[in-house]
Amino acid sequence: MKAPPIQSAPRLPKSLFRGYSGVAVVADENTFRHCYGKIKEQLPPHQLIVIPAGEQFKNLDTCRTIWQQMTDAGLDRHSVLVGIGGGVIGDMAGFCASTFKRGMACILVPTTLLAMADASIGGKTGIDFGRLKNHIGTFALPASTWIATGFLDTLPRAELRSGFAEVIKHALISDKQLWNEIRNKPLEKQNFRKLVRHSVEFKSAIVRKDPRESGLRKVLNFGHTVGHALEGLTLGTAQPLLHGEAIAAGMIVEGHIAYQKKLLREAELEEITACLLGLFGKVEMPSAERLLPGIGQDKKNKGKMVLLALPKGIGKAVYDIPVSEAQIRAALGYYRERQT
Ligand SMILES: NC(=O)c1ccc[n+]([C@@H]2O[C@H](COP(=O)([O-])OP(=O)(O)OC[C@H]3O[C@@H](n4cnc5c(N)ncnc54)[C@H](O)[C@@H]3O)[C@@H](O)[C@H]2O)c1
Ligand SMILES: [Zn+2]
Repeated sequence: MKAPPIQSAPRLPKSLFRGYSGVAVVADENTFRHCYGKIKEQLPPHQLIVIPAGEQFKNLDTCRTIWQQMTDAGLDRHSVLVGIGGGVIGDMAGFCASTFKRGMACILVPTTLLAMADASIGGKTGIDFGRLKNHIGTFALPASTWIATGFLDTLPRAELRSGFAEVIKHALISDKQLWNEIRNKPLEKQNFRKLVRHSVEFKSAIVRKDPRESGLRKVLNFGHTVGHALEGLTLGTAQPLLHGEAIAAGMIVEGHIAYQKKLLREAELEEITACLLGLFGKVEMPSAERLLPGIGQDKKNKGKMVLLALPKGIGKAVYDIPVSEAQIRAALGYYRERQT
C-alpha cells in the first residue's frame, strides 16, 4: 500500500468524491465538535452520522445504527463512507463499509495521533465483541486516507501521549537515529508531522510486504502481547488504561524479555525503560497469575507456545520468538521492582 501524504491543515481534493453515488460521514461526538467543522465545506452533500465517543461503543449496536442510517439515506454499494475520528471511528467505519452491501468504499480522516500513526494504516477493520477486542472484523484497505496533523491541536494530552507510544514503538524497531532524536524530548516539543510521516511510511512498507500478517507484519506487535493482556484486565474497571499506556508498560516488560534473550544489551534496555517510565510513569502491574491467561490468548501465539515480537538491538526487530513462563515472570518482576 502507498503511504498517504501528511498535511498540516486538511485539504480534501474535489476529485476524491468523483464517481460515488452517495456519501455518508461518520464522526463521534468529539470529532463532530472539534474536527468535522474543519472539513465540512470540502465535503459533498452527505448523510451525517454522529455516534457516542469511546471504545465501549465500538460494537455491533453502533454498527447497526450506521448501517441503518446509510440504508435510510438510500446509499448503495457505489457510495462511500467517510470516517472522521480516532481508531475507534476508523476501525468501525472500515468494518461497516466493508460489509455494507458486500462492500462499499471507505475514506479515512484520522484525527488522533494513534489513528494517524497506526490505526488508519494497514486495512485492519473491526469491532469488539463483549470483552474480546477486535474479535469481529475484516481486512479491507480504505480507498484513501487523509492525514492532517492540525487535528491534533484539540486532542487531549492523555490521548496524544497514548498515540505517542505507537510512534515510539515504530522508531524503536526501525530507526535508531529517530529513536535518539525523540527519546530525550518532552511530548510537547516533538515534531509530529515528521513522526507521523515516519510511522506511516514504515508501517505502509511492512503492510505492502505482508498484508495479512503471515510473517513480517508481526514485528508491529512489539509490546502488544503483554500490553493487550494488561489493557484487557483494566477494561471495565474504574481506571481503564488507554491503549498506549498499556503498550508502553508492555514494551518495558517485553524489552526485558529481549534482554534475557540477549537480543538487547543492558544499556539499551535501560534507555527504553527510562524513556517510557519518564513519559508514562509506572502502572500497577497485575500478578503473573492474572496476566498469563491474557498473554496466552494472544492471536499471534501458536498452540500453547507464547511467541513474541522483540527488538533486536535498537532499530531492528524479530518475531515468532518463543518465550517461557519463567522469562515472562522475570520480566514482570523487573517492571515491578524498577523505580521511576
Ligand atoms: N486497525 C488498526 O490497525 C488499529 C491499530 C491500532 C489501534 N486500533 C484501534 O484504535 C482504537 C483506539 O484509537 P484512538 O486511541 O484513536 O481512540 P478513539 O478513537 O477513541 O479516540 C480517543 C478520544 O479522542 C477523541 N478525539 C479524537 N480526535 C480528536 C480530536 N482531534 N480532538 C479532540 N478529541 C478527539 C475521541 O472522541 C475519543 O474520545 C482502538 O479501538 C484500537 O483497537 C486499530
Ligand atoms: Zn497498538
